[in-house]
Amino acid sequence: MTDWQPWAATLADKLAAASAIADDQWRAAFEGTPRHVFVPRYWELDEYNRPSRLVDGAFSAHRPEWLEAAYTDRFLVTQWVADEDRRVVTSSASLPSLVARMLHILDVADGHRVLEIGTGTGYNTALLCHRVGAVNVTSVDIDAALVAEAAGRLDAVGYAPAVVAGDGALGVKDHGPYDRILSTCATRGVPPAWIDQLADGGRIVTPLTMGGALAVLTKSGTDEVSGHFDVEQAWFMAMRPAIRATPAGLLADQPQPVPDDLAGLGVSALDPEALADPDFRLWLLLHQPTLHFVEHFDDELVRAGLTIHDGADLATALRRADGPLHVRQSSPRRLWDTVESAWRSWVDHDKPRRDRLGITATTGGVQYAWLDHPARRQGGDGGDVFRWPLPTLS
Ligand SMILES: C[S@@+](CC[C@H](N)C(=O)[O-])C[C@H]1O[C@@H](n2cnc3c(N)ncnc32)[C@H](O)[C@@H]1O
Repeated sequence: MTDWQPWAATLADKLAAASAIADDQWRAAFEGTPRHVFVPRYWELDEYNRPSRLVDGAFSAHRPEWLEAAYTDRFLVTQWVADEDRRVVTSSASLPSLVARMLHILDVADGHRVLEIGTGTGYNTALLCHRVGAVNVTSVDIDAALVAEAAGRLDAVGYAPAVVAGDGALGVKDHGPYDRILSTCATRGVPPAWIDQLADGGRIVTPLTMGGALAVLTKSGTDEVSGHFDVEQAWFMAMRPAIRATPAGLLADQPQPVPDDLAGLGVSALDPEALADPDFRLWLLLHQPTLHFVEHFDDELVRAGLTIHDGADLATALRRADGPLHVRQSSPRRLWDTVESAWRSWVDHDKPRRDRLGITATTGGVQYAWLDHPARRQGGDGGDVFRWPLPTLS
């Protein structure tokens, strides 16, 4: 038996002090939910962010470290699989301050029916049960073993929400419609089923696979949702099966050593700092959604370059000390040129922060991104509003 309440209260204090918790009801939920029950063990990461050491609360030698981690503002990896030389994280307990932020912008009211996509440990599900009552909560995860474990933990703390094994991209039709849909795995866009299952006036909060964008969408028509991105970044694992979509034969999205030397490379006009700006990266990805980034680090683990690829082509930019970016790109697609052109348009639009951007999606799978307003016209024809299409979702 663990005297966890003081730990949970301290975590809630810290989240409130950081403005992640903004009201008493969510504060009570964080204070009243034993996170250690939902994270009985987790994996510490090494310097390359790879899961490396199991910390298990069942071992008395691990308990102090485990309890402390459970009530600290840390995301904790709870499951991973080996995929060739990669370790792919397949489930985790999300960062509590991010959990709190997402619950806050979900804007839940008493009696709301809520669908959570990505049950994982069940911790977020428990917070929702505390806030709106288990009878109003449905949670779905693609991993049946995780669902069974989470249901057991929820039962142990006195909650019996509907916890379902299945593909969250399809929603959970039987329990809908929902006033709120919260995804805790990142999607390429808004799955049409969520729009179908969303009640009138409903809201969807979902992280996207692009640039840590967190979309806050409201129903803007019977078959359409629309909304801005939150000012905060939200980095989540991609919804499976998308996680395995890294094209074979190309570099994985993990830090890589710096490739050979700079001889024979062209020089980019782009300011090397530009690529470090997360809001520019989001702008770039909204215009080039198939791009992937692979960072390069030198022997001292200092960021030294970047490879971008889109499944068919590569471009690599390297930098030594404070020098310019040296670039290698293949003809005719010249991926690096698309990065430079996105940079010019981002600068032309006054370097918009992410919360000036948004997305509109329909049940037909049509989606578009926009700047400032979901305007009905295309291109920046002298005005300061415009939109552009994103890949259609099936
Ligand atoms: C960051 S974890 C969720 C964290 C969880 N909300 C918590 O509080 O512990 C993401 C979860 O999404 C799940 N997931 C991935 N693809 C999915 C899909 N297509 N449908 C439903 N769940 C999915 C993973 O199995 C994983 O458990």
